[in-house]
Amino acid sequence: MTLQFSLANASPETVDAACVVVGVFEGGVLSSAAARIDSAAEGAIKRQVESGDITGKGGSATLLFAPAGVTARRVLVVGMGPQKSFDAARFQRINADAARALGKLPVDSAASFLTELDVPGRDASWRLRTAVLAADHANYRYTATFKPRDKSSQPELATMMFAAPDDARAGLDQGLAIAEGVRFARELANLPPNICTPAYIADQAQAFADGEGDKVSCRVLDEVEMEKLGFGSLLAVGRGSANKPRLIALEYKGGNEGDAPYAFVGKGVTFDSGGISLKPGPGMEEMKFDMGGAAGVLGAFVAAVKLGVKSNLVCVVPSVENMPDGDSYRPSDVLTSLSGLTIEVLNTDAEGRLILCDALTWTAQTYKPHTIIDAATLTGACVVALGKHASAVMSKHDDLAAELVAAGETALDRAWRLPLWDDYQVQLESGFADVANIGGKSAGAITAGCFLSRFTEGQRWAHLDIAGTAWDEGRKGLATGRPVSLLAQWLLDRG
Ligand code: BES
Ligand code: MN
Ligand code: ZN
Repeated sequence: MTLQFSLANASPETVDAACVVVGVFEGGVLSSAAARIDSAAEGAIKRQVESGDITGKGGSATLLFAPAGVTARRVLVVGMGPQKSFDAARFQRINADAARALGKLPVDSAASFLTELDVPGRDASWRLRTAVLAADHANYRYTATFKPRDKSSQPELATMMFAAPDDARAGLDQGLAIAEGVRFARELANLPPNICTPAYIADQAQAFADGEGDKVSCRVLDEVEMEKLGFGSLLAVGRGSANKPRLIALEYKGGNEGDAPYAFVGKGVTFDSGGISLKPGPGMEEMKFDMGGAAGVLGAFVAAVKLGVKSNLVCVVPSVENMPDGDSYRPSDVLTSLSGLTIEVLNTDAEGRLILCDALTWTAQTYKPHTIIDAATLTGACVVALGKHASAVMSKHDDLAAELVAAGETALDRAWRLPLWDDYQVQLESGFADVANIGGKSAGAITAGCFLSRFTEGQRWAHLDIAGTAWDEGRKGLATGRPVSLLAQWLLDRG
């Protein structure tokens, strides 16, 4: 069951909810909502500040039970860290902390007053959007492949209200729309690769389109159709797997008929074993997330439709499984891509670019898009360069790169630019084809971007490498839903 969100134009001491959430800064500085609770409850918060039970330290949370003078039975006091350095990132964090703490309490409803806090450089609408997204993210549970369990008798958090004036409604609605996209992406990416195959992703895209009426449609090309059209590069990657490739295209008509659409393209490798250039065993299971780009652009598409953006948008997902087999493609094969350029395969583990190049060519030919943005878990080198905090942006268009970096900053789904200078292109030279599929030891994220740039000439195009940001590492690491909120923010910023 997903959490329901609403606005509350109410006072903390009288609001009707099982738990009220207020914040205290480090050093015991009460927010205005905390101060109202404190005076209604005859100093209940200040007493705990004085006793040292409430510190206001970031990450801390204290529960007051049945304080006199307050309508709600519980008050959750969330530590917000130092007031001086309180910023957007901290605001997001305390909202997530609060939602996580609420999830552990036997409460079915909560009213948060954290959305009343001032956040430098951000307005009420941003606060609402961010609070909804943070709470929904923290509240997400992956349950798809566990044995169904008996529902515990403990009440579960079902509704959450945020204190805000009615004119912040837009922020709430945006948060709900984007949260739906983020959930869509996370759920798809978390599924195991024996369930989430190329055909499964196509079915999910089709099912979404079927539920949305006239403005949304879905086309799916199978390998027979792609063969006819000449997808020589994409099909080579998929040949070693029993799970056959698909090219999935969702179209949304939110703008004027005939207006060039924006296009999102996402890498959908449902499992990346490396193929004949087999990956080492440890950590290979994480390569089920190698369709994170596909999940991200599909989630951004869902968000765009739910937001009702006033532009035309297409979302294209090339999807394959990369497996070793007697019929697999091999190092030294020369492939003819849809664009006509030939590619020498030097490593079958550099497969993402081989499916994206054909998808990018097809997207440009089919839709004549205004702008193309691809998202892909493309290189381990990107993780080395930027770690798990920032996605990489690469583009020859300075304005587009700047738009994406700015959208990431606004959405707290950050991206950092790497150069795509032609100086790097020599690393992709081949003695046997127009281009090689790997660029050697140095600058691996950039040479992957350079490879794609050869298939997007004349397009207003940017590439997002999300290898470090698409999922949380570790045995229990889940898909993050990135870069759904970056892309959704970019669309919102466009109009
Ligand atoms: N899907 C991987 C990239 C990846 C690796 C993402 C680790 C996240 C974590 C991609 O297909 C790949 O294998 N890339 C190779 C490219 C190399 C052979 C040039 C890599 O990064 O090692
Ligand atoms: Mn690979
Ligand atoms: Zn891959």
